[in-house]
Amino acid sequence: MFICPKCKSLMTIPACGHCGHIIPSPDHIWQFTDAPDMVVDGDGDKYIGYEHIGENYSGRLKNLLGERDIVFANEVSSLLPSAEPSSSPSAEPFGSSASLKTEPQKSAVILDLACGDGCFTVPCARNGSKLIAGDISNTMLRLLQEKAAHNHISLENVTLCRMNALEIPLADESVDIVVANSVLHLISNPQKVLHEIYRCLKKGGCFVCQDDRPGKNPNEDASRKRDADTQKYDELVNAFYSGYWQKLIPQGILPKKYSWKFDRSQLCDSLFTEKEERLIQRSVPFEVTLEDGFLHRILRRGFSDQTCVPKEAHEKAVNELLAEFRQKYGEDFGRTLFHGIENDLLITIYRK
Ligand SMILES: C[S@@+](CC[C@H](N)C(=O)[O-])C[C@H]1O[C@@H](n2cnc3c(N)ncnc32)[C@H](O)[C@@H]1O
Repeated sequence: MFICPKCKSLMTIPACGHCGHIIPSPDHIWQFTDAPDMVVDGDGDKYIGYEHIGENYSGRLKNLLGERDIVFANEVSSLLPSAEPSSSPSAEPFGSSASLKTEPQKSAVILDLACGDGCFTVPCARNGSKLIAGDISNTMLRLLQEKAAHNHISLENVTLCRMNALEIPLADESVDIVVANSVLHLISNPQKVLHEIYRCLKKGGCFVCQDDRPGKNPNEDASRKRDADTQKYDELVNAFYSGYWQKLIPQGILPKKYSWKFDRSQLCDSLFTEKEERLIQRSVPFEVTLEDGFLHRILRRGFSDQTCVPKEAHEKAVNELLAEFRQKYGEDFGRTLFHGIENDLLITIYRK
């Protein structure tokens, strides 16, 4: 079901039956591309792989299985075609998460495209689903392995691949479900990625997307207090972020952004035949200090828009800002707490 990177024939790993090319697999990661970790110059398609961001992506939460990610993984697993067709078909067009109880077909495959450090792959592997997890960054794929090992979750059913989302090395109509969370905005040609996703999906297969919707605290009084506390956190984040770029932009150093305004639904609505949305309300309280969350990441150039900021210019900017912030907000401004409600989860299922 793979496509040989050398001769483009269909192949199964480890070797192409047509040209004999053997896919290298250091650390059990199949190398399906030798494309660079990121491309930020030139006339062709550009993208920001996270090789340089690595563990700064998730920071101290890197080995945590988030409750939200588990909910999403369960919903996606429930969409896998089941081994035996139910005698009483569901009235819902896409079945429901209750169908998780039925055994999925052994051959059914989920592609987690741009899987990063595995916040979807790992909980999904725990459900016993068969997955192909692909990313352009070997470092992110190794972090995925670390997260699985830390949580004692086997990757026996997971094929890890270094692959480029712009040229997915999978045969036409070969996978049942594709998930591609938080990646289209990092690529200058997200339309091409969506066409690739569509090509790889079997007829009747699904592309499943997740989006945030503001969560609500059922307790209005607690909600008001939390909103007030969190306001300071938001103010500091905004002030630090804009202060950072105000120092860099006059030096000609600009935030690197590709497709942040890309309208995914417009293209998906025209490509796919059916669409279903499910809103999962969560009301889950959430706490993080500025230094563990936003600050941890921006100080280490952990945001994708910091990709082209030279190290020296970055260090000068953050050192100046930290001094200014300590003076203005006090030595322990980093301990400012965000405590709010996690976002609700909007799941959109596009069916081919
Ligand atoms: C923001 S992270 C999202 C990771 C994961 N899907 C999640 O939701 O946490 C974006 C990921 O996309 C990967 N990426 C960027 N460009 C890519 C490309 N052209 N092909 C494959 N992966 C790519 C990065 O390496 C990174 O791991």
